[in-house]
Amino acid sequence: MREWTKEEKYRVLNSKEEIVNLRKKIVESDYRQTFHIQPTTGLLNDPNGFVWHDGLWHLFYQWCPWGAVHGLKYWYHTTSKDLVTWENKGVCIKPDTEFDNKGAYSGSAFIVRKNQSTEVSANNGFDSVKTENNGDIALFYTGNHREEDWTRISYTCTARLDEDGKSNKAEKPLFGPSPEFTEHQRDPKILYIKERNKYYIVIGAQTKNKKGTVIVYESDNLFDGWKFAGELKVPGFEDFGDMWECPSIENIGGKDVLIFCPQHLKLPRRGNAIHHNGYILGTMDWENLVFTPDGSFHVLDFGYDSYAAECAANIQDRDKAILVAWMGLPDSAYPTDEEDWSGCLTLPRELKIRNRRLIQQPLECLVELREQEIEPTGELPRVCEMEIQNSGGDLKLKLFTKADGSGGLTINYNSTDKMISVNREGLDNQFNEEQGQIREHLIDFPLSHLRIYIDRSSVEIFVNNGDAVFTSRVFPTNEENGFVLSDNATTKIWKLKPAVKDDFVV
Ligand code: FRU
Repeated sequence: MREWTKEEKYRVLNSKEEIVNLRKKIVESDYRQTFHIQPTTGLLNDPNGFVWHDGLWHLFYQWCPWGAVHGLKYWYHTTSKDLVTWENKGVCIKPDTEFDNKGAYSGSAFIVRKNQSTEVSANNGFDSVKTENNGDIALFYTGNHREEDWTRISYTCTARLDEDGKSNKAEKPLFGPSPEFTEHQRDPKILYIKERNKYYIVIGAQTKNKKGTVIVYESDNLFDGWKFAGELKVPGFEDFGDMWECPSIENIGGKDVLIFCPQHLKLPRRGNAIHHNGYILGTMDWENLVFTPDGSFHVLDFGYDSYAAECAANIQDRDKAILVAWMGLPDSAYPTDEEDWSGCLTLPRELKIRNRRLIQQPLECLVELREQEIEPTGELPRVCEMEIQNSGGDLKLKLFTKADGSGGLTINYNSTDKMISVNREGLDNQFNEEQGQIREHLIDFPLSHLRIYIDRSSVEIFVNNGDAVFTSRVFPTNEENGFVLSDNATTKIWKLKPAVKDDFVV
């Protein structure tokens, strides 16, 4: 693995020319995705600022241009009209002030309304409000400042997008770090709570005795008057990992949901993985800053590679929520690191509550990706969708097998104990083995249905219409192009169209 010096990791990108050669190498990769957002060069991690505005979806990602390294982070901007096809727009927030000198870290977006009208139109199943003057997008992010001695100071910063998609930063941050917590304070999620007519920012933090937590700020105005409101109390979760990254409190189908990424803890059926992304259903009391859990912590995604999920803001239909996540993990390495790029985002998914769990379904509009249905002969196209019906009982599916049916990614369902598992031991390209090779999940109902999206280096397996999803990076070789399915199940397969324009825009 390449060793990076601090100078190399934190080099400022001054012009596109500086990464032209890098880019030439990257486009040659066999593992470039075709319908997932991926970095133009270098590393992508968290999705940021996911928001609908004026007929367009905006989605940004954490980007380090130089290679597969967590160095200087920019916000890279992509847009979509339909949540299926995406375009690269280039860098949006640059780490170019004293407050963000070592990175424009994760955060969220909010629409600043000037004048709201009531005309409602349909937009891919999601209602949207058309307004004459639809306000503009404000971005809230963590300015990752480092002192000479490398002490970290996190600032909560804001920027406004102008009509050309250029960001204009506020001169000063909204606030600095709270002295009551360690230097780990980041990832502002901006929320407006109607009942209290107040804005809130929730931030992931670490207590001085090294426990993960959320801290809350409040204000009557979006751009000033912010004050520290307190630490969020989550009874029963006072000792649950040493840092909570990317927190958010959503209201989905009338239920409050605390979503966050606890770090450095082990969970059952998660192998040796120590960083997780999950949620707790409950009730949020904004006056007293207490989130009362109604049940336990559940993992959002049961696969190997999913983290830092973000729900889209400004969805006009309050009963719906759309989630996207980084298809990757902190402290992990992937085969394309050698090619100087790493990471991609998951497909956007619709979230719903079913049986006191969050379920995730692929968006209905993703059928637009289907190009052609093919005969399921046992050959697996590099880019495809599979829909599998299980007529009952156990099921075994092997994806990316060799011509003789050996090897591959094994998906196994045991109907006696209702356990579904994914095992990656049989794949040629191994990575992050120390995190464990098997992921398991107990499902509440017998396995009847799987919907699987395969891109050139990823697989997303939706179980029983959203009861569970397993998201993972895979890097199949040219010989790993078959599949084997047990007899009691049937499959349909579609080849899919490319949907994310991989243009070199910086
Ligand atoms: C999560 C994270 C965030 C941080 C960002 C930096 O993956 O560590 O907490 O803001 O990545 O890129």
